[in-house]
Amino acid sequence: MKGTSMSTVLSAQAIVKSYGAKTVLQNFGVTAARGDVIAIVGASGSGKSTFLRCLNLLEMPDSGRLEFGGDSIDIESFKRLPARDANPRIEAIRRKIGMVFQSFNLWSSKTLLENVIEAPIHVHKRPVAECVEQGKDLLNSVGLYEFRDYYPKQLSGGQQQRGAIARALAINPALILFDEPTSALDPELVGEVLQVMQKLAEAGCTMLVVTHEMNFARNVSNKVIFCENGAIGAEGTPAEMFSADGPAAMRKFLSIVST
Ligand SMILES: Nc1ncnc2c1ncn2[C@@H]1O[C@H](COP(=O)(O)OP(=O)(O)O)[C@@H](O)[C@H]1O
Ligand SMILES: [Mg+2]
Repeated sequence: MKGTSMSTVLSAQAIVKSYGAKTVLQNFGVTAARGDVIAIVGASGSGKSTFLRCLNLLEMPDSGRLEFGGDSIDIESFKRLPARDANPRIEAIRRKIGMVFQSFNLWSSKTLLENVIEAPIHVHKRPVAECVEQGKDLLNSVGLYEFRDYYPKQLSGGQQQRGAIARALAINPALILFDEPTSALDPELVGEVLQVMQKLAEAGCTMLVVTHEMNFARNVSNKVIFCENGAIGAEGTPAEMFSADGPAAMRKFLSIVST
């Protein structure tokens, strides 16, 4: 286990999660330093989404340790806390973690700009005018300023997903989790979303990205984790992980996904 330092944004260690008799995460973990772009890859059903959901406690792990935003949570003792003590700590975590899902998840009854300013206004209680200004800037940065008053159904999948990224950024997150952000897109729309993500990476955003886009993992991330049956099958830099003499588990996975 790596020690945490001043630059550590999030550390999750020895995360275990079962559904009934099925253990989905056996002993998973990650340490993200500021500016890290960590790609999590692996077969479908290996536990990647569950792990992301454990990080912002959308799923409560069975055990493990989570450190984020100055809080240090031992899951087993945390679960014994009364809700009035636990809930504010969960809320504090969620307020600082942005999430972008496979299926856009924009609110269909709100315009793009309304989607982006919703959480800053209602969860973070920031001044409306300030949120609107920031929302317009964010939509501009993902190439959607002219579409700010459109409803999701009037937009392409790629535009919706770029909007979802702007929405995730609007809470000024310390960390953004991406769960297969391009998997539901038509192939010709994948590039525009990856481009926005690459721009965020270059701007120094700390990102955890579950993806099947091996070129993104290889060229944009600085760390790759291969998830195998809910455990870390291998991890390293992209150069190590994509090397012809890299970890055997990763090589086997790559030979399957690249055929
Ligand atoms: N809420 C749930 N209840 C029961 N089983 C679940 C639930 N969520 C996920 N699983 C199971 O956990 C395993 C890992 O799922 P998931 O984390 O979605 O994998 P991945 O994202 O790598 O495809 C799968 O076998 C899945 O069926
Ligand atoms: Mg998944």
